Amino acid sequence: MKKIFAANWKLNKSPNEARKFISDFKSLVANGSFYDNKEVLIFPSAFSLEALATACADSKIEFGPQNIYSEKSGAFTGENSAEVAQQLGSDFILIGHSERRQIFKEIDSQLNARIKLAHSLVMTPVYCIGETLDQREDNQTEAVCFKQLEQGLAGVDTQARIVVAYEPIWAIGTGRVATPAQVADTHLHLNKKMKAMGFVNFQLLYGGSVKPDNAAELLKIPHVDGFLIGGAALDPQSFFKICNSN
Ligand code: PGA
Repeated sequence: MKKIFAANWKLNKSPNEARKFISDFKSLVANGSFYDNKEVLIFPSAFSLEALATACADSKIEFGPQNIYSEKSGAFTGENSAEVAQQLGSDFILIGHSERRQIFKEIDSQLNARIKLAHSLVMTPVYCIGETLDQREDNQTEAVCFKQLEQGLAGVDTQARIVVAYEPIWAIGTGRVATPAQVADTHLHLNKKMKAMGFVNFQLLYGGSVKPDNAAELLKIPHVDGFLIGGAALDPQSFFKICNSN
């Protein structure tokens, strides 16, 4: 199975900066065999999606929005449409990132509707889950993640492809990466849980302070099928190095 390297640019990079990143990244990729064993995805901010799509048109880089609304169109001022993202060439949608959950108060039932919409368009949701530091210290990691899976994925087509990104909130943007033992333990439980829920076509990503110097070790852990990368994916060289760690 191909490993997934997904860049979450958050609220960074203008259309021009997105074009420059893709041009620099392409020049680092020596030949097409680079993509034989990996999928490279980029989640730009909404205003840069079209520029990114055009820049990626002749490459195997895949992309999608960082968030969508649960309806395709209508009177929903300020929201973004999955259908339009798809028309721009997106195959993936990031759903439920912890910043969406924490800052914008998004809840599992809303995320569930978005996952179903993504599947109805034959797009692949990248559904984010993860615990806070307090929850980890209180030994709640598994319970919190399982609840996010049960509620976020309730009634979701178990045959359709889904990517789950496990991102401990205390490891995001903090430089404090989860230890290999913590990642191994959580991913083992998440893998079992997804299978028990009937999912047959899923991958599990780890996210939270992934950098070029810790990527190789994390990627060796069973059930780590790739990464969701924030800060270290803003620079083409550093993202490229992470993509080369398998
Ligand atoms: P980080 O962000 O790599 O900067 O920790 C990861 C994420 O928020 O997806």
